[in-house]
Amino acid sequence: MKQSTRPSLVLTPHKGIRFAFAQITMKAGSLDYANPAHVADLTAQLVEFGGLLEEHAHLENQFILTSLAARVPGSADHDEQDHIALELLQEEVMAKLESLQEPGLSPQEANARGYAFYQDLSKLHAAHLEHMLEEEQVTQALLWDNFEDEEIMALHFQIVSNIPPDKMLAWTQYILPSLNHAERIELLKGIQMGAPAAFFAQVMERTEAVLSKEAFEALEEAILQTA
Ligand SMILES: [Fe+2]
Repeated sequence: MKQSTRPSLVLTPHKGIRFAFAQITMKAGSLDYANPAHVADLTAQLVEFGGLLEEHAHLENQFILTSLAARVPGSADHDEQDHIALELLQEEVMAKLESLQEPGLSPQEANARGYAFYQDLSKLHAAHLEHMLEEEQVTQALLWDNFEDEEIMALHFQIVSNIPPDKMLAWTQYILPSLNHAERIELLKGIQMGAPAAFFAQVMERTEAVLSKEAFEALEEAILQTA
């Protein structure tokens, strides 16, 4: 499909979601499921990321799909159904992970359950990849056909202003490394303009923790230059 220079509502969060799934999948593949500290660490990360996925779907439903359905009746049904199915798959993944907290599991049983969890995680990952591509190639194209850029940007600001600060900070660890240099600058400049200075400083701190020294310094320099 032809690339558009028009604003996209899904490019940034979807890059972050792809990055997170890849990172978590790599971690889950090499994990020693008989080690409770390792299981607890992965569980904490997935509980947080699962919360981000749910919030992302709710914001898409509330702002993007509701607006689209009002102009093109029926056009949001497929994505709304996908969101329900993805949430159910996510619950199955979390149940498998929680089953590893059962006391008295032998190392063999823990690693067998860990592998079953890993396979379910892979299923959820695959379902998200397919869903995101469809939203990018079908849903976003429908938005371009039926909304002006100004209207799309108004939706963008509604979505961003409905993300609580703690969730915005949690997104930073996945979204910032997933973007290219120009996209990082655009995102950070937007936060700098719209949020209090203390919050922007927290975002920059989280960003520094997840980028290479070279990439972070280039970003800092670019932001200072355009300040
Ligand atoms: Fe979605």
